[in-house]
Amino acid sequence: MKEKQKEETLDPNNWNTMRATAHQMVDDMMDFLQSIDEQPVWKPIPEDVKETYKSTLPHHGQPLEKVYQEFTREILPYYKGNIHPSFWAWVQGTGSPTAAMADMLASSMNSNVTIGEHSAMYIDAQVINWCKEMMGFESSASGLLTSGGSMANFTALAVARSTFTNHQVRFSGLRDLQSQLVVYCSVETHSCVIKSIEVLGIGRDYIRMIPTNDQYMVDTNIMEQHIQADIAAGLQPFCIIANVGTVNTGAIDNLEKIRSLCDQYQLWMHVDGAFGALAKLLPAFQDRLKLIEKADSLVFDLHKWMYMPYEVGCVLFRSSEDHRATFAIEPNYLLKHDQGLAAGPDSLNNFGLELSRGFKALKVWMSIKEQGINKFIRLIQQNVDQIDYLKKLVESHEDLELCAPVTMNVLCFRYAPNGINQEILDEINKEIVMALQVRGIASPSSTILNGRYCIRVAHVNHRSKYTDFDQLIDEVLGIGRELY
Ligand SMILES: Cc1ncc(COP(=O)(O)O)c(C=O)c1O
Repeated sequence: MKEKQKEETLDPNNWNTMRATAHQMVDDMMDFLQSIDEQPVWKPIPEDVKETYKSTLPHHGQPLEKVYQEFTREILPYYKGNIHPSFWAWVQGTGSPTAAMADMLASSMNSNVTIGEHSAMYIDAQVINWCKEMMGFESSASGLLTSGGSMANFTALAVARSTFTNHQVRFSGLRDLQSQLVVYCSVETHSCVIKSIEVLGIGRDYIRMIPTNDQYMVDTNIMEQHIQADIAAGLQPFCIIANVGTVNTGAIDNLEKIRSLCDQYQLWMHVDGAFGALAKLLPAFQDRLKLIEKADSLVFDLHKWMYMPYEVGCVLFRSSEDHRATFAIEPNYLLKHDQGLAAGPDSLNNFGLELSRGFKALKVWMSIKEQGINKFIRLIQQNVDQIDYLKKLVESHEDLELCAPVTMNVLCFRYAPNGINQEILDEINKEIVMALQVRGIASPSSTILNGRYCIRVAHVNHRSKYTDFDQLIDEVLGIGRELY
């Protein structure tokens, strides 16, 4: 008989050493998060550190403790900063210690949450049910946790397209459609929606990007004119995308008007509420966002305004039948059984593009269980109140100006003393944003509104305090004066 070769595994040779290193990692991460406000919000990566990122494929291993030291030396200090109280760039959530630990637990279980009779399948479904409850969707609705808002929007628009063709598009593609599909949304719509429409074969030329009013809300009169013109031209309007929280300014489209256009012209109503939909939990927004419940599909991200660590987004559908009919497929290697591991809930592969899925529901489940949804509601309200405070600070200073109306948690402003021309102001404000980051003070991001460069504060940070906004304003004014 052939001699057996020595067998190997990725488990440690010495579990006690592994345990000690793992404990060290947890201790270090708790220290790191506990003292993050004493660190700069951002710092440049030194060139010699960047060089280490270029080392070639390691053929032989080394002790984990050494690799961990490399991590603490060369990776950890050069974080992005969205864990820091003074980070308000793009729309990037903060994460939390509890959810980080939940990710460790989920990774240890390493559940592939697609198919089978195991706990993670039920927790994933429970989290979707909580999302439906939060957004006022019926219990008969369905949903899917995704990697984020982009994938959630793509999934929603795929279901809209498939449903419109009675799911025939799955078989015959777009070629057999009698006329070209057309989508309507505002010019403020996120680029991931545009990419989704491109990838779904509808094509960018058939997205009507409708202008907005001075509140950055879509002009629904112009939208209706486009719908009518497209019908007259023999095209096939099929979907309106409403924004609840535009990425630039946080504007909310008129949901009532959009629902009635969808009813009148038999269109799918999709809501991109990547961050803004969470405002539905606040009493002050409940009326305005009531009709989210009547959307055919809704997207919102738990890694934005629910402060979960990356990645976790969510898409909900009013019709679970249409959701399922868009993706359901039964290859013979995914057969469902009556008992055993291959029993259990309907495969989540029938509800989306991805087969393998991680246990991202656990961090949501654990965080909501630990804190209660009321705590999240208070935090979201706190962010809205802090942005209102920042608005008052901007308005109270003659050298600062607001660049757009403030609807919820996004504020665009700029340093604009009298008598400086627009081009110079654009340059100064860009310098201010870069200096704030390079000096490690604060990380707002930027955008361009009406052709003007603006400093953009998008607030989904549970660690920020009012004093962090005082500091932001003091520093913007200070740097502005240094520059001009
Ligand atoms: C309104 C809106 N939609 C969609 C997205 C894309 O979400 P994600 O970055 O999670 O893919 C964003 C991201 O900021 C957004 O603000």
